[in-house]
Amino acid sequence: MTDLKSQINPEKIPQHIAIIMDGNGRWAKQKGMPRVLGHHSGVKSVREVTEAAAQIGVKYLTLYAFSTENWNRPPAEVTALMSLLVETIKGEIRDLNKNGVRLTAIGDIEALPAATLKTLKEGIEKTKDNQRITLVLALNYSAKWEILHATRKLAEEVKAGRLDPAQITEAVFEEELSTHGIPDPELLIRTSGEARLSNFLLWQVAYAELYFTPVYWPDFGQQELFEAILSFQNRERRFGRISEQLT
Ligand code: IPE
Ligand code: IPE
Ligand code: MG
Repeated sequence: MTDLKSQINPEKIPQHIAIIMDGNGRWAKQKGMPRVLGHHSGVKSVREVTEAAAQIGVKYLTLYAFSTENWNRPPAEVTALMSLLVETIKGEIRDLNKNGVRLTAIGDIEALPAATLKTLKEGIEKTKDNQRITLVLALNYSAKWEILHATRKLAEEVKAGRLDPAQITEAVFEEELSTHGIPDPELLIRTSGEARLSNFLLWQVAYAELYFTPVYWPDFGQQELFEAILSFQNRERRFGRISEQLT
């Protein structure tokens, strides 16, 4: 196996990587197993990728774990996913603390089932002082919901006479997003071969590098993460300029 880690340029590590963890169901189906076992196997990838990201100096890792659209799945799968979340967070808190991982969440988390919300809040509270890496779980997340929520909030401020519409800059708008205080992801990875965003971080990925891999999430680990980072490092990020203008 080639040593991908040694090829990574430590000066060009993305500070924020976002991942659409996809393909758990197909991974399981391919093995003749129920979909839920695919989700269970995906937890190992979360652990491995979080540790690998922390090791090379990534500061924020955002994982899309449950979209608002995922409520439309068969009720048994939704229930299983919610229980898996509770089990996983409870089971990982010790290791999160040992590894310096601060857990946080984005999305409409207040609408999660009570047990899930309770465990999530405990996980966030118990890891809040860790500083090595921030693991952001997108839960009951919808980018459109988030943008509407921010818009409504600013509209209320305007209506109350506390804000002039001319003051609504990108920075002011971003303050109302659930990702406020977190830099935009420079790299967005989606596993499983699908090439779409599925309502994930629409505002924040405006200039992210997109990386799609056919690998199903349960098979995605450290090596696959390093491959994605190498791909990122080999791209020229021009932000509207031309090549010759970049130093
Ligand atoms: C991703 O895997 C996990 C969640 C969306 C919760 P999927 O469950 O979407 O797996 P596929 O896409 O059906 O294979
Ligand atoms: C996106 O995956 C949501 C998560 C990974 C949590 P989906 O599997 O739900 O997305 P679609 O339905 O294929 O777009
Ligand atoms: Mg899917």
